[in-house]
Amino acid sequence: MVVVDSEASEDERLWQWVAGYAQQYRSSLGVRPVAAGVDSRAIAQKLSELDALPQSGKPALECIQELVALAEPGITSMSGPRFAGWVVGGTLPAALAADWLTSTWDQNAGVGEGAPAATAFENAALAWVAALLRLPEAVKGTLVTGAMSANFCCLAAARGHLLEAAGWDVQQHGLFGAPALRVLVGNERHETIDKAVRLLGLGKRSLTCIEADGQGRLRPSVLARELDRCADPVVVCAQAGNVNSGSFDSLSEIADCVTRHRERHGPSSVWLHIDGAFGLWARAAEPHAPALAALADAAERADSWATDAHKILNVPYDSGIALCREPRSLRRAMETGGAYLDSGQPRTTFQPGLLGPELSRRARGFALWAALRHLGAAGVSELVARYAENARCFAQAIGGQAGLRVLNDVCFNQVVVLLDAKAGTEPAAWTIQVVRALQAEGTCYATPSSWHGRPVIRFSFCNATTTQEDALRMAGALGRVIAEEQARE
Ligand SMILES: Cc1ncc(COP(=O)(O)O)c(C=O)c1O
Repeated sequence: MVVVDSEASEDERLWQWVAGYAQQYRSSLGVRPVAAGVDSRAIAQKLSELDALPQSGKPALECIQELVALAEPGITSMSGPRFAGWVVGGTLPAALAADWLTSTWDQNAGVGEGAPAATAFENAALAWVAALLRLPEAVKGTLVTGAMSANFCCLAAARGHLLEAAGWDVQQHGLFGAPALRVLVGNERHETIDKAVRLLGLGKRSLTCIEADGQGRLRPSVLARELDRCADPVVVCAQAGNVNSGSFDSLSEIADCVTRHRERHGPSSVWLHIDGAFGLWARAAEPHAPALAALADAAERADSWATDAHKILNVPYDSGIALCREPRSLRRAMETGGAYLDSGQPRTTFQPGLLGPELSRRARGFALWAALRHLGAAGVSELVARYAENARCFAQAIGGQAGLRVLNDVCFNQVVVLLDAKAGTEPAAWTIQVVRALQAEGTCYATPSSWHGRPVIRFSFCNATTTQEDALRMAGALGRVIAEEQARE
């Protein structure tokens, strides 16, 4: 029950109620069932019972109370401590508060000096990210919706740069008649690389897939052979953090292959991109967990990097980061014009708003800056190391249970669990049955996947409020649910 001051103005009562509700919701995250109570059909049914498009409005506070009543049963506690589905970070209070202010200030970060604070904070936050991830000082970038969009931006920059070096201006002429461009990727890259390649008009057939090892890391020796055969301009996409196993491609060996190719074919013959949606943050684990940080050694040798702040760093959605060694190619790929876009003010700093695919957009820099200001480098290092400890603790508890096996080397925050199927049940159907039962039980939330042809359950540890006790409760819940489902007729 949220109490508001009945003497306050209508607007004030709205803000008080929303702040009170948000506070109660946040406090409930550790105790409420993690999965939503109803599915989207049930919510849609309730919504359809309302009037068709309402002809007349109602006071804002009533609208918001109605919205909460209708939506809350379908809210998944994604920022709670025992949510381990996909790779979904929680929400640091400082970042959430800054995000509220972002909406309150309602700056259009696409207009540069028209929103001077948004521009300056985004630059400052990006510089901190580059320093934290130990990337070259000159790196510049932009904040986008997520790693999907960041991969797209970086590969757009790569496409323009490589084709320009091959004598083709893709911004002017498009791709009809352009020199061939190849994209070398690991067999276990994230699908968003494929989507970015499709959106860029290169087509999936421009992809050459490099065999991966048992943990999902592309084999550098196979990459070296492919590069040797490659006379066309080529993008190499490496990965820091496999979405199933959390494994890291051997970035130093990959960077060596790229260097050798450059020595033979010229400095602009190849572009190295790293998709490090969550794994790139392992670099911040120094000094708390130097071995973890070392997994992403040599990432600084890439030309571009895609990552997220809404995963490991626990900035609220959406917060993706695209970074390039030199921003010119990114700017050329993304620039847009219009005399009306000028604010009339001189440009005083670098304009990250010009480097992304959007024009009007949210001022994402405030929340990212607040998260980093709150944690400091030491806090991020401790946080990243803690995720790995939680994952190890969970994996150990799983390994001690009959009928459960951890399939991956738990090097970071991801744990892939294989279940012995119930007698007479097909493994994929059994895995889904257990996932659903686990979600319905409410202690935690994990999601299914398929890894090396086997149905598995993935657990991802990237919430700052998760404790080892939570990790153990999650392992216990899985064992309990399996026993219940085994006993079910
Ligand atoms: C390696 C990798 N790349 C890209 C993505 C896509 O990130 P986003 O959902 O933020 O666009 C993910 C998501 O988990 C990922 O793990």
